[in-house]
Amino acid sequence: MRVKHLLSTTDLSYADAVRILDTADQMAAVSSREVKKLPALRGRTVVNLFFEDSTRTRISFETAAKRLSADVINFSAKGSSVSKGESLKDTAQTLMAMSADAVVIRHGSSGAPQQLADSGWIDAAVVNAGDGKHAHPTQALLDAMTLRRVRSRATGVASTGMDLEDMHVVIVGDVLHSRVARSNVWLLSTLGARVTLVAPPTLLPVALTGWPCEVSYDLDAVLAEAPDAVMMLRLQRERMNAAFFPSEAEYTRGWGLTAQRVRRLEEAGAPTVFMHPGPMNRGLEISSEAADSPRSTVLEQVANGVSVRMAVLFLLLSGDESSPNPSEN
Ligand code: NCD
Repeated sequence: MRVKHLLSTTDLSYADAVRILDTADQMAAVSSREVKKLPALRGRTVVNLFFEDSTRTRISFETAAKRLSADVINFSAKGSSVSKGESLKDTAQTLMAMSADAVVIRHGSSGAPQQLADSGWIDAAVVNAGDGKHAHPTQALLDAMTLRRVRSRATGVASTGMDLEDMHVVIVGDVLHSRVARSNVWLLSTLGARVTLVAPPTLLPVALTGWPCEVSYDLDAVLAEAPDAVMMLRLQRERMNAAFFPSEAEYTRGWGLTAQRVRRLEEAGAPTVFMHPGPMNRGLEISSEAADSPRSTVLEQVANGVSVRMAVLFLLLSGDESSPNPSEN
């Protein structure tokens, strides 16, 4: 990979993105074997530095690092010296004293991973696992991997080398607070997809100039175009300090993937799959009919997350030259 760190999908070229996704496909082959381990990162140390709550992302990075035989240190801010006021700098330097090769960081402040990478406090590879409202690059990569596989199943063409040209992906909901939406808009458009954001005006960022996507307030009108995928975002109530919509029922009526909308897509014979990064608010932004439908890719996204994170750690820590060669163990 051209980059030393993975901070944002805006840093990824088309070639970088396809390379990570192709590597992730190879890693997925490892995960489906009985022995799910590669020796690639034996003797290397990956630190998971989580200042914000997380279940699936932290477990996913931990699983990914372990499947590559790295040593993993989990450091969560709760119950650590951070809650006693230790700064990011002191925490980082403590980790370096433990010889970390990669630091996977999730932080409530946008820009914290960038600060860690630029600071000179550490010389490890920094992987952004979600910073504030800013970016969540591995989530976007796992979404792109899922979309390639959806296309591969529909066309019968292998996903290796594939991009998302001509796919229409609709991202719905709380775009304003969503690092997942931001990272996806850039990555999916780099890969050639057409991206449409749909949200109430209050849940869209004020300035969308320069974003490579279309914007609509009308979910039903966009769904009538039979998109390839609709990605529902969680309403991030922990980041809301005001009322952004009249009531939850109103929000669901306008922007939820309700049972009625699922039925309409099915009646129209649309190919649309249903995506969600989790955790889901069932009955609010997504109905159980959608979440549990055969069209739902929610669990496939989780599985692909491990493969994508294996690929990212492998490419950042082993450099460009070698290949993971899953057949060798
Ligand atoms: C996302 C996150 O934390 O940004 N979740 C995740 O990584 N699985 C999305 C969310 O919290 O809504």
